[in-house]
Amino acid sequence: MEGKEPKIIAFCCHYCAFTAADLAGTMRQQYPTNIHIVRLPCTGKVHVNMLLQAFVDQADGVIVAGCEIGSCHFLEGNTRARKRVALAKQKLEEAGVDPEKLDMYYIPASEGQLFAKTAHEFTERIKRLNENKKEQPGITNSK
Ligand code: FES
Repeated sequence: MEGKEPKIIAFCCHYCAFTAADLAGTMRQQYPTNIHIVRLPCTGKVHVNMLLQAFVDQADGVIVAGCEIGSCHFLEGNTRARKRVALAKQKLEEAGVDPEKLDMYYIPASEGQLFAKTAHEFTERIKRLNENKKEQPGITNSK
């Protein structure tokens, strides 16, 4: 994995985080190219199995990014997503995958800079977690 950028899947709500990612590009805010965006109408469409499947499909990290609490265009989609992310984190831990490899963020449409910053920080977190895993003898990658 050395020298290789981690593969990160970002499930983004169309109305907020996806628009923020688009704005980041328009503003020429650079963010890592290893972030693969999956556009959803709302983070409420995210299910636990989708999150876990991303790891089965060799993702190193997964982000769910949606509207701020209280701003979901489908009212409670993001609060449902938050619960599903919490449940998926438990399942990851049971499977021996660090739950820090999955996280949820709330990124308003006007925050292109925040999207870029989040993408950078999450990428660095995943790189650090992957490095730590390599340094622990006896622990094998579950992938
Ligand atoms: Fe953005 Fe629901 S519409 S999280």
